[in-house]
Amino acid sequence: MAGGGTPDSVGDLARERERFEREAAEVSSRDAWEALRLRWVGRKQGVVRALLAAIKEVPVEQKREYGQVVNLLKRRVESRLEELEGELERAERQAAIGAAAVDVTLPGRRPALGSLHPVSIVTQEIVEIFSAMGYSVAEGPEVEEDYYNFQALNFPPDHPARDTQDTFFVEGGKLLRTHTSPVQVRTMLEREEPPIRVICPGRAYRFDNDLRHSPMFHQVECLVVDKGITLGHLKGTLEAFVRKLFRPETGVRLRPSYFPFTEPSAEVDITCPFCSGDGCRTCSDTGWMEILGSGMVDPRVLAECGFDPEIYSGFAFGLGLDRVAMIRFDIPNIRVLFENDERLLRQVRG
Ligand code: PHE
Repeated sequence: MAGGGTPDSVGDLARERERFEREAAEVSSRDAWEALRLRWVGRKQGVVRALLAAIKEVPVEQKREYGQVVNLLKRRVESRLEELEGELERAERQAAIGAAAVDVTLPGRRPALGSLHPVSIVTQEIVEIFSAMGYSVAEGPEVEEDYYNFQALNFPPDHPARDTQDTFFVEGGKLLRTHTSPVQVRTMLEREEPPIRVICPGRAYRFDNDLRHSPMFHQVECLVVDKGITLGHLKGTLEAFVRKLFRPETGVRLRPSYFPFTEPSAEVDITCPFCSGDGCRTCSDTGWMEILGSGMVDPRVLAECGFDPEIYSGFAFGLGLDRVAMIRFDIPNIRVLFENDERLLRQVRG
């Protein structure tokens, strides 16, 4: 070996080759491969280059053999590097395929199931109960004219009863209906002759907003007009209805009240569905719960809609559907109904 430790004999070359093979066998990453390449065939400090340059130190009689062996080593280094690169690439591809592979034994992901909103559930139930009693469903617009929402219902302009309705007015002299009663008027005006038996589910709007009131709410209106309809029919219908909707032993109580479009008018209480009338927090210990407004259709409303009040009479009631849904599903706050929290729907579905 001559000068600075550079191998310059054929024996040294054999050891260099062994060293290369050992180092190559340990390569398991791209970085290690690159380091190996630079160390052995790098342009500047590559071992092979140094070995080639060292030929000038080799005794003349060995130069030929030394040159051949160095060249062999060079080819071996190059081909081994190429081979290693191929192996690394294959390993990388395998790893990528493994990572992306589908595990067919994993359980599937269930899509979220849709379900009916509590208000839709009670609306459907109520429509079914009345359909079975021979009623049909009527609908009307939510953006309504003053005439149908008020005037034809015997609220004269400037009448103080309008104050009870907390009206949202919209452009063009229209308003958002404050109750479903305008559908009564529209139905009577459309029909030539009684008998009329309709229920009208829909949205109504008032600028109320607290735990029990939302600016948009749902009502169902009921209207019956025929010859000889009495308060007895109203009470009997209400009893049949609430006993189907709530418990069969539910009691009904009528309290005198006032609505411009009914005479007489009554607010209707049912025995508290939570305590069956014994008294609890929900009914403030009264045993009763108010659920709707009702009455005999005022003769002036019948006449306005083209029916002779001497011949015909009728009853009507309006029920808050949100209230019913809250009672049915034990929901304490009306806003929960309109926040679109999926957990509510899941609970109701269950
Ligand atoms: N429309 C009334 C309200 O919303 C309820 C009602 C309907 C009362 C029908 C009597 C008859 O307050």
